[in-house]
Amino acid sequence: MDKNDFFCTELATSPLKDQGIILVSGATGYIGGRLVPELVNRGYRVRAIARADALSYQAKWPGAEWVEADALIPETLDRAMADVDTAYYLIHSLMLSARRFEEADLQAAVNFRLAAEKQKVKRIIYLGGLGDSCTPLSPHLHCRTLVAQELAKGPAQLTSLRAAIIIGSGSASYEIIAGLVKKLRLIPMPRWARTRCQPIAVRDVIKYLVGVLEIRETTGRSFDIGGPDILTYEEMLKIQKKLIGKRILFFPVFYSNTGFYAYIASLVVSVPAPIIRNLIKSIHHEVICQNSDIKKYLPFPTIPYKEALLRALSREEQDKIHTRWSDAYPPAFELAIKLHQLSEPPQFSNYYALETLKEAEALFKSVCQIGGKTGWFHSNFLWRMRGLLDRLLMGIGTTRGRRSNTSLHINDVIDFWRVEDLVPDRKLLLRAEMKLPGKAWLEFAIQDRGASRLLSLKAYYYTRSILGKINWYFFLPFHIFIFRDLILGIEEKSRPKGRTKKK
Ligand SMILES: NC(=O)c1ccc[n+]([C@@H]2O[C@H](COP(=O)([O-])OP(=O)(O)OC[C@H]3O[C@@H](n4cnc5c(N)ncnc54)[C@H](OP(=O)(O)O)[C@@H]3O)[C@@H](O)[C@H]2O)c1
Repeated sequence: MDKNDFFCTELATSPLKDQGIILVSGATGYIGGRLVPELVNRGYRVRAIARADALSYQAKWPGAEWVEADALIPETLDRAMADVDTAYYLIHSLMLSARRFEEADLQAAVNFRLAAEKQKVKRIIYLGGLGDSCTPLSPHLHCRTLVAQELAKGPAQLTSLRAAIIIGSGSASYEIIAGLVKKLRLIPMPRWARTRCQPIAVRDVIKYLVGVLEIRETTGRSFDIGGPDILTYEEMLKIQKKLIGKRILFFPVFYSNTGFYAYIASLVVSVPAPIIRNLIKSIHHEVICQNSDIKKYLPFPTIPYKEALLRALSREEQDKIHTRWSDAYPPAFELAIKLHQLSEPPQFSNYYALETLKEAEALFKSVCQIGGKTGWFHSNFLWRMRGLLDRLLMGIGTTRGRRSNTSLHINDVIDFWRVEDLVPDRKLLLRAEMKLPGKAWLEFAIQDRGASRLLSLKAYYYTRSILGKINWYFFLPFHIFIFRDLILGIEEKSRPKGRTKKK
């Protein structure tokens, strides 16, 4: 991140001098991933929690200390909380089903509160959801309220911030709004599209999170945070439509089943159905600030909705999205098992290779461009069909794309893959996150052979079920030409141009 990318340089508060370690939980997520570098940049000693793969995060944000801990495994929290002064609580499991995420989120909060008590943590700062606490809330908003109540039970002083939808490059809400407007010409408007909401820009959320840390009087209090605009969802879509100058017909409909609309929207936008479904369930409830007390402590002007959209658009155009909703690990955490962690080697594999005179650096650059807007060089239609099939099965699909089209890090997503390993100019290992009756990996490798290079692609597949085996043999004929064409495409696209020696 360069200096201009930090949001808190505009804050009127000053970094605390006597502050001990600050713990950021949920640091691999959308908000946490933006908070960590801000705190480090302000000179704080930051410890960040990742559920797995702490080493790869250490490389991405070297200024922070990364520890592995899972809030559902209480023992792991003790080490994370040792010597911590203030802990941010940004843990959330939105991709789980409604019942499971409520259970998981509450249990995580109980464990976190107990560990904080044991390790004598002085403060907890929590970012939750807005919602009128006097009316019945959706499971998502209800759960956010219960988490706040749980965290407040311990001796650590809780500062609770409540926000409605957060708009910023890479936020799920922004990508849903932008995706619907970009892809559709006709948008049905059920009655709930007229519910009001008070969106807030991600920049302002980060400033409030850091600001309350630096103002001790905010301890033990709850604040509602929001942008200056109160808008209906329909208005929000229309503002985006105007911004990109597209003609769209919005028409009223009587059918209002949110599950149905979440599913249909998931076929169109980058965000998968489980997230949209959990977010959209809250859509019947007005999410508007009930107090503006935060302004007494942090009176900076918040960014209007339209400007937040423009900033998000511009970050996308500049390919400078620092965190994205897809950064958090997938719900079925077992999907995160790595190739080398399998108890036995994958039973199935395919290998494709070609020898080329092109340089390793050029080949690797080309490998790292796959997916997202670039596509898969060949057979894009088949990749898209596979993605659509995945979306129909409520999977992640290929519309998820990539955070950046030019840079790639371990844990980044590429359509329905996630980067598991990356060794510059040598290897890129992708792990499948699509719906599969097994586990799959794609490994691109470049070997130096003196005057030439061997560019190879190996597909691994691990399954124990009959269905898994049927799936492998069914897709095998497609793999043969999709993967062969893929490495041919990678070789062709790599520059500077050289001559391919032989296949
Ligand atoms: N984003 C919004 O639009 C929005 C709006 C209003 C309020 N908020 C609030 O802001 C907070 C952060 O949201 P977010 O959008 O940053 O969420 P997010 O991107 O989904 O990230 C959630 C984080 O929680 C971590 N996590 C989940 N279960 C865990 C466990 N058992 N142990 C340890 N870590 C665990 C995830 O780690 P893995 O990477 O390992 O999964 C991830 O780092 C939430 O409380 C949310 O309610 C967000």
